[in-house]
Amino acid sequence: MQAYHFQDFLFLFLLGVSSLTLAQHLYCHKGVYVNIEDDPAQTFNWTTEKVETCDNGELCQESVLMITAGDKTAVLATKGCFAQLMEAMTFVQHAPSPGLTAVSYSNYCEDPLCNSRQKTTSMTATLHCPTCVAVGTCLSAPSLPCPNGTNRCYRGKVELSGGRMESSVEVKGCTSIIGCKLMARISSIGPMAVKEVCPHQSVYQSRKTESGATWLLVSVWCLALLLPTLLQSLIHFS
Ligand SMILES: *[C@@H]1O[C@H](CO)[C@@H](O)[C@H](O)[C@H]1NC(C)=O
Ligand SMILES: *[C@@H]1O[C@H](CO)[C@@H](O)[C@H](O)[C@H]1NC(C)=O
Repeated sequence: MQAYHFQDFLFLFLLGVSSLTLAQHLYCHKGVYVNIEDDPAQTFNWTTEKVETCDNGELCQESVLMITAGDKTAVLATKGCFAQLMEAMTFVQHAPSPGLTAVSYSNYCEDPLCNSRQKTTSMTATLHCPTCVAVGTCLSAPSLPCPNGTNRCYRGKVELSGGRMESSVEVKGCTSIIGCKLMARISSIGPMAVKEVCPHQSVYQSRKTESGATWLLVSVWCLALLLPTLLQSLIHFS
């Protein structure tokens, strides 16, 4: 009887220890894939049976680069643990269609086995970006398809001060501009000082994009057309 109780205790103790271990260590899907595919949107399956245990400070990641020439696509993909400070999702259309195309996607997430994307369908579709423009902060940023000629998502704030102006405009959308250069680095418009601030280019919190919808959102507006109009109305109404 005594021994039985002791075993119970031992079992509970071990259970406690193992759940403590679980809490400390993150498990992620693990795998590497390199292949030439005819139609990766249909045939490529990113599922992997292997799992690895991350070291402290590592998150789960899944990343893929797809380069298409004609009817063949090179697919290079990896899943596993990787040292990264924050959850983030990046989608870059390096070279848009027609012709040669190159698309990359990477996702860092912090829940157990969260790097579990199976398909690349959404990645080969038209680039979509969260799109909005607002004085202050955007309340919503619907995902809209990008016009031809754009190849990445922009997200930034343009801050104006001086000439009795104290305003900032939040802007998100499709662009071909690399980096935080919507305003082409100009530092003033008349008496107003201009400051452009961007978080990491094309990075979104993956929690908000679990459905995969947000990061594929598309922009209807052409930012280049929209921003001057907005700046004008700002100037007129103040
Ligand atoms: C990928 O393969 C796994 C098993 O290998 C299967 O369970 C899963 O449904 C497949 N996913 C897709 C999208 O075909
Ligand atoms: C963009 O380019 C694609 C491929 O060339 C074409 O099918 C599509 O109609 C174009 N879209 C616009 C809005 O011009």
